[in-house]
Amino acid sequence: MRSHYCGQLNDAHLGQTVTLCGWVHRRRDHGGVIFIDLRDREGIVQIVFDPDRPEAFGIAETARSEYVLAVEGVVRSRPDGTINTTLPTGTVEVLAKRLEILNKAETPPFPVESETEVNEETRLRYRYIDLRRPLMQQRMRMRRDIVRILRNFLDHHGFYEIETPFLTKATPEGARDYLVPSRTHPNSFFALPQSPQLYKQLLMVAGMDRYYQVVRCFRDEDLRADRQPEFTQLDIETSFMDEEQITLLLEGMIRELFRDVLGFEMPDPFPRMTYREAMARFGSDKPDLRIPLELVDIGDLMQSVEFKVFAGPAQDPKGRVAALRLPGGVDLSRKEIDDLTQFVGIYGAKGLAYIKVNDRHSGMSGLQSPILKFLPESVVCDILDRTEAATGDVIFFGADKASVVNEALGALRVKLGQDRGLVEPGWRPLWVTDFPMFEWDEKAGRWSALHHPFTAPKCSLEELEADPGRALSRAYDMVLNGMEIGGGSVRIHRMEMQNTVFRLLGIGAEEANEKFGFLLQALRYGAPPHGGLAFGLDRLVMLMTGASSIREVMAFPKTQSAWCPMIDAPAVVTDAQLRELGIRLRKPPEAPATPT
Ligand code: AMO
Ligand code: AMP
Repeated sequence: MRSHYCGQLNDAHLGQTVTLCGWVHRRRDHGGVIFIDLRDREGIVQIVFDPDRPEAFGIAETARSEYVLAVEGVVRSRPDGTINTTLPTGTVEVLAKRLEILNKAETPPFPVESETEVNEETRLRYRYIDLRRPLMQQRMRMRRDIVRILRNFLDHHGFYEIETPFLTKATPEGARDYLVPSRTHPNSFFALPQSPQLYKQLLMVAGMDRYYQVVRCFRDEDLRADRQPEFTQLDIETSFMDEEQITLLLEGMIRELFRDVLGFEMPDPFPRMTYREAMARFGSDKPDLRIPLELVDIGDLMQSVEFKVFAGPAQDPKGRVAALRLPGGVDLSRKEIDDLTQFVGIYGAKGLAYIKVNDRHSGMSGLQSPILKFLPESVVCDILDRTEAATGDVIFFGADKASVVNEALGALRVKLGQDRGLVEPGWRPLWVTDFPMFEWDEKAGRWSALHHPFTAPKCSLEELEADPGRALSRAYDMVLNGMEIGGGSVRIHRMEMQNTVFRLLGIGAEEANEKFGFLLQALRYGAPPHGGLAFGLDRLVMLMTGASSIREVMAFPKTQSAWCPMIDAPAVVTDAQLRELGIRLRKPPEAPATPT
């Protein structure tokens, strides 16, 4: 139907007759002349209808926003003074000879041509209109570019793209499973994969050597801006490569991606930091390195002070007392500090002690703080020295279980960085390494895997068994600007080690066999050393497009309550369907199910 895309016309097409197809972005009737901005995927161009062509002019008079048109006309220069420098096609326009309305449109529920705020439910209900908006088109285009570059890179490095099943068995990645009842196997359920983890390991046992897949993963978990119930991973696995080789290869891919898409040169190599150091300095295993604030341990200074709030955690092996200095923070008002105290409360902090340094050179009288009266002068001096406090700074304190202090001060650090405009521009990637194998689950009274149960330890089997709590894993996370964009590890490839890890996790031999028998079996048939990683593709695209949530870079996302307003899913099903599946609902829906 068309000869050119609207958005691709320019001076090179002057004098040519073109046929364009697209949507009415805007229509202006200047008495005598009608202008229609016609829009397609590639952009917008101005079409001019003048009364010399009465037929086309008459039809143009009836066209409304979002009508679908086919226009034939001649490309010409815009008259002097009417050039639109904000539009890539702004030097030209098309003088229409013929116009056909291919389809009419009702007034859209929200304007396509402007970026006015529209509530998200409405946008998702009419997603096909929302996606017409230029910003959304831009994001989809960038997503396409990103995936293409990643695929090219992996193709060039000898990776096979291989598909793995969606109808499968539970793969433990720490979330709840989406279950699919089986008609042919009554009382049995498939689980949708939380990731293709075990299949990709089996592909390595199968000798595929290098695998990748752009793949949907399903996790029934609490949703946030960076989490969706179904999301896309760039999933990768390799054989005969250690963590050094895997991370170097994959950071090379990310460097190439940022160079090609954003023209940004990332550091080579990416910096690396152990989990322990990340927690100590930033209270987080995904630190945003653009924020120049750091936590400082002061537990040793608080061992024997009278102030129980600090001395208690300082003496507790699981406790932590840490300080966070905010340069130039003395101007924070009482109210602002109260708000920050409330903020850290969300993370379980019981308070937020602080010292304002009004004058570093006037001893205790230059300081202002609700806790000075509890602390000896020498300790206060040591705190000021260790945090390198200067006149005008404020120092915040957290004292509690280490996990509470890390979460609270880690979040405070990010909040202060953002609120006070301290976030440096650019991209700051980081590999976080040397994670503990296990963390102690207080509620369950047993160890749980920090990554997943297939991650190899750094130590020998004997050392692992002797002290599981001290063992480090061969896992690595790629962090970018404070977000975990990918995670992976070298895997266990020997059955004895896998059995041991299952046992330490409280998974008995019988349960291990029932859930992972296929893996244990495969490990007996010549499994090569292997390892890999999965990137959260949506998160990567979100960061690169500057969007505020991954919903903004997915064509058809779900709401925060995992619901799709457009097709109204999930939905009730008919009794007949349930009967076929051998399912009876515990609490039948109130209204009769609509037949499907
Ligand atoms: P992991 O669970 O860390 O590892 O997931 C890998 C990456 O996927 C992204 N991600 C998500 N993105 C959007 N919504 C979600 N609900 C969501 N959950 C995770 C994150 C994360 O870094 N099989 C392992 C990988 C491996 O070991 O190779 C895995 O799935 O960016
Ligand atoms: P209090 O003696 O409870 O009035 O606390 C004195 C100061 O210590 C107040 O500024 C509190 O906000 C702060 N504070 C109390 N508990 C903690 C804690 N666990 N960590 C950091 N500061 C605290």
